[in-house]
Amino acid sequence: MYTQAMDIPSPERDETARGGPRSVREAEYEAEIDAKVARGEFIEAKDWMPEAYRKTLVRQISQHAHSEIVGMLPEGNWITRAPTLKRKAILLAKVQDEGGHGMYLYAAAETLGVARDDLVDALHSGKAKYSSIFNYPTLNWADIGVIGWLVDGAAIMNQIPLCRCSYGPYARAMIRICKEESFHQRQGYDLLLTMMKGTPEQRDLVQDAVNRWWWPALMMFGPHDSASTHSGDSIKWGIKRISNDDLRQKFVDAAVPQARVLGITLPDPALKWNEARGHWDFGPIDWSEFWNVVNGHGQCNRERLADRVQAWEDGAWVREAAMAHAEKQRKRDRLAA
Ligand SMILES: [Fe+2]
Ligand SMILES: [Fe+2]
Repeated sequence: MYTQAMDIPSPERDETARGGPRSVREAEYEAEIDAKVARGEFIEAKDWMPEAYRKTLVRQISQHAHSEIVGMLPEGNWITRAPTLKRKAILLAKVQDEGGHGMYLYAAAETLGVARDDLVDALHSGKAKYSSIFNYPTLNWADIGVIGWLVDGAAIMNQIPLCRCSYGPYARAMIRICKEESFHQRQGYDLLLTMMKGTPEQRDLVQDAVNRWWWPALMMFGPHDSASTHSGDSIKWGIKRISNDDLRQKFVDAAVPQARVLGITLPDPALKWNEARGHWDFGPIDWSEFWNVVNGHGQCNRERLADRVQAWEDGAWVREAAMAHAEKQRKRDRLAA
């Protein structure tokens, strides 16, 4: 989900992105890449690519993969407590999809010449980021609906343009991911519609969840364009197609009528239709909260990371067994040949 909005400053990236002096051959190659991007063609794994482009993609795709995997945790928390068999089956399928998204994306990152173990190490050591939205807790059952509606909804806004991003393996992975995200969004909205037709207590739970998730969902699009220092490169390379603020506005414009149908109030007194702009105006975002969570001080940062590390350690025997099995197959194939 997530992805381009985490385009936050990194000193290491600044250095590589600016690059040193280039050879004539490199400059020619770069001109070729620029022309390909301009023609809307994909850059493939075996093509030459500028080092800064490769690094930006590794960083973005791996952060996206981490977000999918960490994103399984807040909802996984409710699988055993889903109110009906139907909702449990839907939630299981959804959480499993997120695991699958992580796998496609790690595989896409690997085509850029990085090892999956190194990416996972970077997550576990706290060096790599994942979307901050998953550092918020899921306190009641309506949170599951609101995550689908708003969090997966914001993810779709962010991700649809990535289906046309310039790096082929990433763009193709995103096509399937977006189809599944759209199911996630709809199951969330359907869950909320059901609760809103229920008791006053159920409606209160939905409103409470919306109050807590609305602003963090808007933060998912990342800093304002004026503060997003790396957007220029990403747009030039065709990785990013639409700016953070434009995506955020599209999201607000879509969410307001959906909130009306649900019968809930979005927690923003400044929300107002602007006839001249043809868009909904909304209030200021508390960026201090955003940076606080990005920098590790959200409500669940420690818990999420600890859970991921634990899951990795608990799964060691599965990875060892899979490797041993693959080795056995290889030996058999060799003998048969
Ligand atoms: Fe996903
Ligand atoms: Fe999703």
